[in-house]
Amino acid sequence: MAPVNIAVVGLGYWGPNLVRNLWETDRVQVVAVCDPNPRARGPIARRYPSIRAVASYEDLLADEDVDAVAIATPVHMHFAMARAALLAGKHVFVEKPMAGRSQDCLELMALADERSLVLMPGHTFLYSPPVRKIKKLLDDGELGELFFATFSRVNLGIHQSDVSVVRDLGPHDFSMLLYWLGKPTFVRAIGRDAVGSGQLDVAFVDMGLPNGALVHMEFSWLAPTKLRRTVLVGSGKMVVYEDTSPEQVRVFDRGVEMIEPQSFGEYQLSYRSGDVLSPRLDADEPLRLEMQDFVDCVASGETPVSSAALGYSVVQMIEATENSLTFNGSPCSLGAEPGEQRQAGDRRRSDGGMPVVGRLAAPGV
Ligand SMILES: NC(=O)c1ccc[n+]([C@@H]2O[C@H](COP(=O)([O-])OP(=O)(O)OC[C@H]3O[C@@H](n4cnc5c(N)ncnc54)[C@H](O)[C@@H]3O)[C@@H](O)[C@H]2O)c1
Repeated sequence: MAPVNIAVVGLGYWGPNLVRNLWETDRVQVVAVCDPNPRARGPIARRYPSIRAVASYEDLLADEDVDAVAIATPVHMHFAMARAALLAGKHVFVEKPMAGRSQDCLELMALADERSLVLMPGHTFLYSPPVRKIKKLLDDGELGELFFATFSRVNLGIHQSDVSVVRDLGPHDFSMLLYWLGKPTFVRAIGRDAVGSGQLDVAFVDMGLPNGALVHMEFSWLAPTKLRRTVLVGSGKMVVYEDTSPEQVRVFDRGVEMIEPQSFGEYQLSYRSGDVLSPRLDADEPLRLEMQDFVDCVASGETPVSSAALGYSVVQMIEATENSLTFNGSPCSLGAEPGEQRQAGDRRRSDGGMPVVGRLAAPGV
């Protein structure tokens, strides 16, 4: 089978990682890199002399030798650059989030569908061994019925000037939640710009899943220590996932059960405190697996794990969170039909008795 000819676009902090991983990926040839900044092109041109380094994106898209592009430019450029590439007939990998607005994601998805091209957002966490392990535990029913999940992503982080902490940190946890458990039915959020930088630097986001499980996420650039911690509590087992720990995933055989009453009204609780298991995890680099999935899907026409539909739902979740923040924490539904947007003050429609700010419906995540 002929290799996929790919070009990496944007050679700032992240783009060179895409080049390195694609260079090591099977059935792909990195034929070009593109960045208008000569200082960004220089080091790549020196390290990989066989790769053509170009300044103009338009010239790159006009090159018929290029089958696919991997875009790692600033977020506000994703939509226009992905759209131009699809219109030029190229398969597209685009860093997360796929676009700033969910309606722009829908436009990209329609273009990719019409042209039978792969459109893949770069949600790298979906390829990380701990996240995949937890997906398997959930799919195998090891946790039993999921009661709730909490996600903490906080540290003394760099305050971004152009995006809030929700847009900066949220996509990671939103993508994991969608991958593991599907789409929430509602989102509600509170947050504040604590240091007065003009962007929210702390946000607390609550969600409900269709089966009744509750989800809480906290995002902050203001915290004394770095926490990357997810806890899943099920009726059978509980899982703690900590990216910063040497044992990234721990499975606790712990829980509480109701004991059948011996006589009327004598319910008792039984506490189970069993083994703690730290499962063996594969050592693969997530970004390499992500690049391999993109290349394989370009070759086969299949849908990547980090699908466009999932990327669309991530952007919907960002928008629903922002809507809720605008309306002082009112719940926002993610399931409303297109065009059916209501403000939180309107209590004529409700979701579990709560006011709803509707968003666009997702095409099947
Ligand atoms: N998946 C991950 O874990 C992860 C990690 C970091 C960054 N990212 C994503 O990668 C993307 C880039 O982030 P970054 O930190 O590298 O940004 P950056 O600002 O360091 O780099 C962006 C580069 O794009 C170039 N660029 C601007 N206009 C261009 C054009 N028209 N054509 C080609 N190149 C152009 C700039 O010159 C710059 O070199 C963002 O979307 C970010 O969200 C993803």
